[in-house]
Amino acid sequence: MNVALFGFMGVGKSAVGQILAEKMGLGFVDLDEEIVGRAGRDIASIFREDGEAAFREMEKEVTRDIAARDHQVIACGGGAVLDGENLRRLRKGSTMILLTAEPETILGRVEAEGETRPLLTRGNRIERIRSLLSARQPRYLKAADFVVDTSGKTPEQIADEIMGFLQAVNAA
Ligand code: S3P
Repeated sequence: MNVALFGFMGVGKSAVGQILAEKMGLGFVDLDEEIVGRAGRDIASIFREDGEAAFREMEKEVTRDIAARDHQVIACGGGAVLDGENLRRLRKGSTMILLTAEPETILGRVEAEGETRPLLTRGNRIERIRSLLSARQPRYLKAADFVVDTSGKTPEQIADEIMGFLQAVNAA
């Protein structure tokens, strides 16, 4: 069984995923990192040079390969689960954990990380986050087995909360 962490950009999927994997003795894989490794370019370059559609194709290929493996925590890029095929593949072998955060928190985190999010480089960032988030939130919620609000919590606390849920489910 895998644990898939998903949700909007900047909610802490990678940071939480690494801690969770360590605590649970599982492998850790970040879908975006996997794409970057295979393409030999960062995400911003892929979007700029090949466009979003090409990125989504790479994301699909990587999701297919990773979802077929076992015993790992998977940090999904924010758009990965919005594709029906990706979601089906992930759901098959993974408990699906949605991480959420307020738009202001997301903005603070993505700004701290610099210009790495091609979907947030145009226009007013907070407005862009709000509109993308409200368009995505219903689909995120529908895909989730468990939802963790990350506001005011450390990655460590979030990882503990997820472990509590997984233990309760396995004990049931
Ligand atoms: C995206 C999220 C990014 C990355 C790409 C597109 C999205 O991943 O896959 O920029 O559509 O939400 P993070 O969620 O890890 O930032």
